[in-house]
Amino acid sequence: MAAKSSFSKNVASFYDRHLSASTTLGPYFRKCVDFQILPSLRGRDIRVLELGCGNGNLATYLARERSFHVTGVDLSPKSIALARENAKLQDVGVTFIASDILDEHLDLPRFDVIVGHFVLHEFLGADFDRLAAFLAAHVEENGYCSFLENNSFNPVFRWIRAALPRSARVSHENEYPFDPARYAVLGLHFKSVRRDCPAVNLADRFYRQFWPHGVRLEAIHSAALTFDHAMTLALPASIRPWVSYFQIVSFAQQTVGQRLNPGAVRSPWWRYRAADNL
Ligand SMILES: C[S@@+](CC[C@H](N)C(=O)[O-])C[C@H]1O[C@@H](n2cnc3c(N)ncnc32)[C@H](O)[C@@H]1O
Repeated sequence: MAAKSSFSKNVASFYDRHLSASTTLGPYFRKCVDFQILPSLRGRDIRVLELGCGNGNLATYLARERSFHVTGVDLSPKSIALARENAKLQDVGVTFIASDILDEHLDLPRFDVIVGHFVLHEFLGADFDRLAAFLAAHVEENGYCSFLENNSFNPVFRWIRAALPRSARVSHENEYPFDPARYAVLGLHFKSVRRDCPAVNLADRFYRQFWPHGVRLEAIHSAALTFDHAMTLALPASIRPWVSYFQIVSFAQQTVGQRLNPGAVRSPWWRYRAADNL
């Protein structure tokens, strides 16, 4: 473990205490990853880095289902221990490294694809600029970076998040929803940066966040998913980004992929369900 500053030690210990239990969004993002990266890199041995891999859910999926060579890096040693255990239980080979991604002693090669699931927002100010430089130096020229983040373009969502106490958000003091300013920083390091909101996840997200955990009701959750599905189909692409709870931030040194178009994939991937989880 090579956490350098006291700040990164604090974040590591925060995530040691709040181990990621992320499984529910995996299918949504995983299908996006598959859809976006395969056309440009098909037929090659694909090397993937997952930044801030937490419990290793996404990294393990990509290694197991897509046969990618996956490396997962996370600041939190306990998350990495959990990720190793999960991969071992599934008998999948993934390289997991406990380190600050910005640690100058971290020696990583270039990757075809770099992904992350709720991690870009962890880097603010000068750290975000360093992260963008790191990503530019570690993705292949024809490679691709793709990150799932909360949608922070809608002022109402920003207000709701700011109004919630940090304890209700499982949030430490140096993170902030991925905002438009950081797109501009990515633009300094990458030729192409894009933002997609391919599916509306609003009702599902609110159900997960606010419906009391003790009284989960499948019928309510199903209604929420159906509502989101209908919104995804009904809303024009120009409106969707304002009501989707998530955004996919993609960037590369070449024009980034095709539009994420739900109709273009075989399975209706916006209808991710708990049953799809690992
Ligand atoms: C919100 S959690 C998301 C975890 C996981 N991707 C998921 O979705 O369940 C953010 C993760 O990023 C990791 N992280 C934050 N700063 C990091 C850094 N500088 N280097 C490596 N990992 C970092 C944290 O330890 C934490 O596990």
